[in-house]
Amino acid sequence: MRKIIVITDIHLRSAGRDIIGLYPLKQLEKALIHVKKAHPDAEHLILMGDLTHSGHTEEFEMLKAAVKGYPIPITYMLGNHDKRNSFIKTFPKIPLASTGHLQTRIELGNDVLLCLDTLNGPPYPENQHNGILCKDRLDWLNKELDKSINKRVSLFMHHPPHNIGFPGMDKIKLKNSSDLFKIISQHSNICHIFTGHVHRTISGHTNGVGFSIFKSTCHQTPMALDADDSSLSVPEPAAYGIILFDDQSIIAHTEDYEIAIQSSSTSLDAMPD
Ligand SMILES: [Fe+2]
Ligand SMILES: [Fe+2]
Repeated sequence: MRKIIVITDIHLRSAGRDIIGLYPLKQLEKALIHVKKAHPDAEHLILMGDLTHSGHTEEFEMLKAAVKGYPIPITYMLGNHDKRNSFIKTFPKIPLASTGHLQTRIELGNDVLLCLDTLNGPPYPENQHNGILCKDRLDWLNKELDKSINKRVSLFMHHPPHNIGFPGMDKIKLKNSSDLFKIISQHSNICHIFTGHVHRTISGHTNGVGFSIFKSTCHQTPMALDADDSSLSVPEPAAYGIILFDDQSIIAHTEDYEIAIQSSSTSLDAMPD
């Protein structure tokens, strides 16, 4: 089996600034230490957007310092809280797609992972947190799919293109999801969509493909199916995603490492009836 790790919604803030009592840099560091110890065999680490809370260069610099020398190759993606120009300024050596967006193709045996840039901007209108895939980005996706006819394809994107049942979050999903679903309907080898943005573990099926959403390393969204507010946050334990690929399946695990750290494993066989 081949393995990759997904860390999403890091929301780094400048030194000393918290989010509901959580310090995003400390939270990220815990995740990075856990991944390094538990999954030294992971072939790739995808950071799936909302790398920063405000898109400031200073916040991207914190990320750069935190991952310096990390032993697993990293692919960076952007979310609605990021700013592409600040990212490019901080990471000038990270290649962009010819369109200028942060879109990447990862090859993993017979699997192709296409990482899309759903950041809506520039300009970055205040409180506009929807994602978008403009014509340039969709054209890039079509070209990559043309090169992947005999491969199994997974899509990675910060914004889910589908509803998740939280009205507030559904308002800020990918805005032009019908354009993406049209492309998906034309490519039967697209098997799964991985996203972040919602800060919860969610899975399901949409438009013929499966989807998985991973928790944040920082704050989480409460279970509130009637919530119209997309900014509700709770300090529930953090998690990251582990994705396994074999000939038959794409397998998505969520590693609630903060719970795992607190509890030691006990064999059920050793417990009294
Ligand atoms: Fe987020
Ligand atoms: Fe987001």
